[in-house]
Amino acid sequence: MTLGLFSWLLLPCCLGLLTHEIPGAQAGSVPSAAKTLVWGPGLEANIVLPARFFYIQAVDSSGKNLTTSPGEKTFEVKIVSPAEQFTRIWIQVLDRHDGSFLVRYRMYATYTDLHIHILLKNKHVAKSPFILKGTVYHEGCDCPQPNGAVWETHMHCPRSFPQIDRDLSRYATVDLDLNSREIPQRFGQRQSLCHYTVKDNKVYVKTFGEHVGFRIFMDAILLSLTRKVKLPDLEFFVNLGDWPLEKRKPTEKIHPIFSWCGSNNTRDIVMPTYDLTESVLETMGRVSLDMMSVQANTGPPWPDKNATAFWRGRDSRQERLELVKLSRSHPNMLDAAFTNFFFFKHDESLYGPLVKHVSFFDFFKYKYQINIDGTVAAYRMPYLLAGDSVVLKQDSAYYEHFYSELRPWEHYIPIRADLGDLLERIKWARDHDEEARKIALAGQQFARNHLMGDSIFCYYYKLFEGYARLQVTEPKVRKDMVLVEQPADDLFPCYCHRKRAKDEL
Ligand SMILES: *[C@@H]1O[C@H](CO)[C@@H](O)[C@H](O)[C@H]1NC(C)=O
Ligand SMILES: *[C@@H]1O[C@H](CO)[C@@H](O)[C@H](O)[C@H]1NC(C)=O
Ligand SMILES: *[C@@H]1O[C@H](CO)[C@@H](O)[C@H](O)[C@H]1NC(C)=O
Repeated sequence: MTLGLFSWLLLPCCLGLLTHEIPGAQAGSVPSAAKTLVWGPGLEANIVLPARFFYIQAVDSSGKNLTTSPGEKTFEVKIVSPAEQFTRIWIQVLDRHDGSFLVRYRMYATYTDLHIHILLKNKHVAKSPFILKGTVYHEGCDCPQPNGAVWETHMHCPRSFPQIDRDLSRYATVDLDLNSREIPQRFGQRQSLCHYTVKDNKVYVKTFGEHVGFRIFMDAILLSLTRKVKLPDLEFFVNLGDWPLEKRKPTEKIHPIFSWCGSNNTRDIVMPTYDLTESVLETMGRVSLDMMSVQANTGPPWPDKNATAFWRGRDSRQERLELVKLSRSHPNMLDAAFTNFFFFKHDESLYGPLVKHVSFFDFFKYKYQINIDGTVAAYRMPYLLAGDSVVLKQDSAYYEHFYSELRPWEHYIPIRADLGDLLERIKWARDHDEEARKIALAGQQFARNHLMGDSIFCYYYKLFEGYARLQVTEPKVRKDMVLVEQPADDLFPCYCHRKRAKDEL
C-alpha cells in the first residue's frame, strides 16, 4: 500500500499560489463583452458537483479569440440568489493565461434560483446574467435524482465508456451469492479488500484485513454519488491495494474486482484512481492540486518554457533509477532527480543527491514532462495532461480508467517501456516544436473533456449501472456489513424537493 496521498509532490499549501505573477494586462487585444464566450456545466442548475465550473474565452470586437491573458481581474463574477441577502458561495476566477478563464464555485448551502453575473468593466458578458432556475442543490445536500436516466441526461454523460465496456464484457453474469463466498476466500487475506452493498441507495461495507484506510475514498465517492442520484442496488468488491488482483485467464473462472489501476495481465474492473477521485471531491476543499487549479498554474507561455525534459519523484521502480542515471549523463536533455528514496538502497554515486520537492505547478516551467510508472501507473498523468506541457509517456502494462482513450502522438509522445528511445523523442520534440505544442494542447483538451468532475461522476455511475445489469442474484446486506452514514447535516440543511421516479416522468 502506498503511504501517503500525493506523496510524489509537495502540496502547495494555499490557494494564494493560484495567482501567478504573469504580466498580461498590456498584451494584445481588448476583450469585447458581447463577443466573449461563456460555457460549461456550472451554468446548469441540475449539474451538482462539489465544485461547479464554467469557462470564459475572451474574444475581441473583431471576433478573434485572445490567446494571452487580458489581465487576471478582467472578468468579475458574482453569484446571487434573489431570495437571499447573502449567498454562501466561494468563487474563484482562474486565469489560464491563454485568453481563457476557468471559473469555479463551491456552494455551502442550497438556493432557489441562482443568478450568475459575469461582468467586464461593469458590462454584462455574453448572455449574463445566467439564470439557474429552481432549486440549486449543493454538494452536501442528500437529494438523489430518483431516475438515473434523467440524471445522466442532466449530466450530459457519454453513452458509453470504452474501458467500462471492455471490463464488463468479460462477465456474462455476476452471481453475488457465489462471489460473496469465493472472493473473500481468494483475496480476503490480502488485507485490503472491501465488500460493498448499495441497497435502497444506502451504502454498506465490510472490510477484510487491516490495510483498509483507503476505504475513505471509496466511501466518499459512494456517498457523494448517492446524494446526487439513486443508484441501482448492487454488491461488489473493491481492492484498495496498489496492484490489480485478478490474474486468471479469461478462459478460467474470473471474479469481478474493482481496482484503481488495471494492467495488461490482469482483469480487474478499473475505476478512476483514489487520487483523482479525491481531487474531484475535495476541489476547493482540502486538496489544492486538482484538475482545475492545475489549469491556472501552467507556468510561462510555451515559447518561454525550458526545453529540458523534467521529472521528479521517488524510487518506486527500476526504470526510474535508469531515468535518473540517464539524466546525469545527459543533463542538457533531461533533468530527472529523486526527491525520496524508499524502495531501493540509495547509492548517491549513481543516482545523485536527493533534491528538494518541487511544487507540482512548477513542473510546467518545462516543456516536456516525463510520465513513468511508479509502483503501478503514475497517478500524476491527469494533472500532467491538464498542464501546458507535452507529456512523454512510458509504454506500460499498467493503466488508469482513461488511458484507452488516449492516442500516442495525438495526446502524448510515446516512449518505450525500457526508455531506450527517450533521448531520441526529446530531440524529436525539440526539432518539431509546433507539433509538440499541438500535442500538448490536445492533451489539455482531453483532460478538460474527460477528466473533470462531471466526467468522473458519469464514469462511476455508468460503471455501477452497467455492472448492476449483470447481477443475477439479489444484492444483499451481508452479515457483518455496516452502514456508511452520510455526514451529519451541515451548517445549512437543505430541503429536498425531489419526488419519487414516477412523478418525474
Ligand atoms: C475560440 O475559442 C472557442 C472556445 O475555446 C473555440 O470553440 C473556438 O473554436 C475558438 N475560435 C477560433 C477561431 O479559434
Ligand atoms: C533549464 O533547465 C535546466 C535543468 O533544470 C537548467 O540547468 C537550465 O539552466 C535551464 N535553462 C534555462 C535557460 O533556464
Ligand atoms: C499493454 O497493452 C496496450 C494496449 O493493448 C499496448 O499498447 C501496450 O503496448 C501494452 N504494454 C505492455 C508493456 O504490455
